[in-house]
Amino acid sequence: MPAPDTTAFGPGFAWGVATSAYQIEGAVAEDGRTPSIWDTFCARPGAVDNGDTGETACDHYHRWPEDLALMGELGVDSYRFSLAWPRIVPDGTGKANEAGLDFYDRLTDSLLAAGIRPNATLYHWDLPQSLQDRGGWPERATAEAFAEYAAVAAARLGDRITEWCTVNEPLCVAWIGHLEGRMAPGLTDPVAAVRASYHLQLGHGLAVQAVRAASPGPVRIGIVNNLSPCEPATDSEADRAAAVRADGHINRWWLDPVLGRGHPADMRAEYAAHGAELPERAGDQAVIAQPLDWLGVNYYFRQLIADDPDPAAAMPRIRQVPGPGPRTGMDWEVHAAGLEQLLLRLTREYGARRLLVTENGAAYPDTVRPDGSVHDPERARYLTEHLAACARAAEAGAPVDGYYVWSLLDNFEWAYGYDKRFGLVHVDFETQRRRMKSSGRAYAALIAAHRAATARSEGAGTAPAGAPSRP
Ligand code: FCB
Repeated sequence: MPAPDTTAFGPGFAWGVATSAYQIEGAVAEDGRTPSIWDTFCARPGAVDNGDTGETACDHYHRWPEDLALMGELGVDSYRFSLAWPRIVPDGTGKANEAGLDFYDRLTDSLLAAGIRPNATLYHWDLPQSLQDRGGWPERATAEAFAEYAAVAAARLGDRITEWCTVNEPLCVAWIGHLEGRMAPGLTDPVAAVRASYHLQLGHGLAVQAVRAASPGPVRIGIVNNLSPCEPATDSEADRAAAVRADGHINRWWLDPVLGRGHPADMRAEYAAHGAELPERAGDQAVIAQPLDWLGVNYYFRQLIADDPDPAAAMPRIRQVPGPGPRTGMDWEVHAAGLEQLLLRLTREYGARRLLVTENGAAYPDTVRPDGSVHDPERARYLTEHLAACARAAEAGAPVDGYYVWSLLDNFEWAYGYDKRFGLVHVDFETQRRRMKSSGRAYAALIAAHRAATARSEGAGTAPAGAPSRP
């Protein structure tokens, strides 16, 4: 596939890769880290495919210098990773753990020395188990504890980490973790799920305030949502209404309150009909709606939605219908146009001023060839098509300021364990050997082509073609 024309991306555009702590670090009992809800969930028989756990994962806690060198080979501008709350505040609240902070301190310094800007997520699903034991996200105290931990992290790292994300995909935490039970903490309780959704939003707002107050210098802070265009599977009235509910459940419930519009009335009514009310207090909406510096979009697929007429159907009474496009190893439909649609919607409907595509990528069943290479043209094609979608959105006025591939490494894919490989770099989980896949080389080439084109359009007289455009 030809490289997309990415000249519509602005000069500060970040080409990046993303990971998260529990999926790569391992070392779950080292240097004072305590168990998280994912350690507990993995120990539950049948919860995770093959009985896999994050105990060792990619052993990134020990091998991070090698992983940083791989980022150097890719030529990325920025690295999105998450901090493990149970390393930094092991009891969930109270005393900070210096050894945990030291780990992120070393990583941050080394990234900066390599010319790679850190983008740190405070919560990518690894709640300290001690907080779950006290009720977890359905309790308001967890949101307050989150802000405390955010302040500790920002006070220590905020002089060098200037790009922060509060929560990654609160939808997955609330709906998949508390309603569908397919992720930690594994509950199927609509009341707990709606309470969790609310406290994740409140925790987000409190953490924005805490990070701004604790950082020694200016920072840019946002939230990352996984969004999906929701289209009715047929033209029937029931399916069209179901698609509106799906959009409310997946997109509007997560965008509207943090962007100052409050919780959508139709979804409040839908959840209330399932017995779930918001645990609201006066003043909360203003906390939830803190001004943000950017919005993060994780995009994997669109959704085709049909009504679920079963009177016992769980909220929001929808069924997903498979789309006609090709599918990835996750059985997710490839539909790059959905990313363009989302970026334009965030711009036009929500007035977004800075957008980051904080995750996008695909799992395929990659294998190592006898000569040691890993050839994964489908992934390269997937990334190229989605970058082309971002470029079209940017051309049409969406302020797209970065794109992060999920993921740098093959890693622990939550309830799917290690079988689903998303990396630009292959990991042999027996030996921990890393191998750059052909998609990694293709991504490096796209980055280099963008830099060359940008340098040319800025006037070839001042910068040699191909010169890095990093600040
Ligand atoms: C997203 C998660 C990320 C990874 C990808 C495939 O929902 O944020 O951790 O699992 O999906």
